[in-house]
This record gives sequence, C-alpha cells and structure tokens, in this order.
Amino acid sequence: MTGDLFAGVTEAQPSRETMAEGAVLLRGFVLARQDELLAALREVIAAAPFRHMVTPGGFTMSVAMTNCGKVGWVTDRRGYRYDAGDPESGKPWPAMPPVLSALARDAAEAGGFKDFAPDACLINRYVPGAKMSLHQDKDETDFSAPIVSVSLGLPATFLFGGLKRSDKTQRYRLTHGDVVVWGGPSRLFYHGVAPLAEGEHPLLKRQRINLTFRKTA
Ligand code: SIN
Ligand code: FE2
Repeated sequence: MTGDLFAGVTEAQPSRETMAEGAVLLRGFVLARQDELLAALREVIAAAPFRHMVTPGGFTMSVAMTNCGKVGWVTDRRGYRYDAGDPESGKPWPAMPPVLSALARDAAEAGGFKDFAPDACLINRYVPGAKMSLHQDKDETDFSAPIVSVSLGLPATFLFGGLKRSDKTQRYRLTHGDVVVWGGPSRLFYHGVAPLAEGEHPLLKRQRINLTFRKTA
C-alpha cells in the first residue's frame, strides 16, 4: 500500500511522445506494476550485486551495473561484450524475472515493435554525479529489435541524438516509471545521461535505476 498520497501518481494515465522515427517516450508506463517490478529487481540485485566495471581504456565507470537474462553486458580491459556468466561470481546471470520480460514486451509493443523477446537486461545504478557518455548500443548482433529503457528513482536528463556522435542531441527529463523505446531508423542513435542531480526519491532514495532490455542475437 502506498496510501492516498500517491494515489494520483500511480493512477495517472501513461502518455506517448514521439522522439524520432522509431523512438517514443512512454511516460508513467511502469507505474501500474512498479511494486512487482521492484520486488523482482531486489532479488536479482541480491544474487548479482552492483559493481563498477572498467572500460577497455582503463576508466572505472561512474554508473554501477549488473544484469539479468541469458546473457549480460560486461566491460573490462579486453573490451565490451555479452557474457552468459557473471565475472564476479563465476555463476550464470540471474534469469530475467517474467514481470520484467512482460513489461519490456508490452512497452515495445506500445512503441510499435511487436513480439519483443529480450535475452539481456542491463541494470544501471546512478547516484548523484554519475553519468553516461554519448554512445550507441551496438554490441548486439540483431538490430531489428528495439532497445527498451526503464527509468526508476531520481529524475535524469536523457540525451538523444542521431546516427553521428556530432548530431545535435535533444534533452528529455526521465522520471520514475518512464520508458523509452528506440528501434527501426533510430536503433543506432547516440544517447547518454547527464550527471545525475542531487535528490531523494520517496521509494529509491538517493539513486536512479535504469533497466535496458536488449535482444542480443
Ligand atoms: C544506457 O544507455 O545503457 C543507459 C541509459 C539510461 O540510463 O537512461
Ligand atoms: Fe545505451
């Protein structure tokens, strides 16, 4: 029970905003199922805790990461890749909870992509000051499927550009419960997250959690 105070928030109607051809922002899409989602996430994080990975260039990322699904995205001095095992534990990544895969499939469909069946979910944790530089999601071998990105906790400024790093970026404020779907003509668009501002979220406190669902192969 979240009580009457949040009733207006959790019952708000999701909205749909076009960002580019193939890209939509679904505000509030998660809210109706956030309790189940957060409970499933807690279990994943207990089995595969957040860690700061190192880029091939030797920089430690400000965003802490973990994964669930058949494979997980990892980076180390050898490069970026998808791996079936968690390098910290030597065990397979936790399975993707059905509540997560169903959310991703439904959001993709609302964004115009039917039958999305992700095999990977990268879980990013930002604390104030953490950021993600502009990049393309291109470590997958199948670009016909979209990327589905779920925002929880503190608000962030999401930067969404074009096919070239130098393309002008649009800025979107993503708040708790928002989903961005990009695929088709915008599947390889550059995107990133500006340094997270200080704040305290009622549920997630001083952090932002982002989930990105991918179909890697
Ligand atoms: C990502 O591109 O992997 C993360 C995007 C975000 O945190 O919103
Ligand atoms: Fe990305």
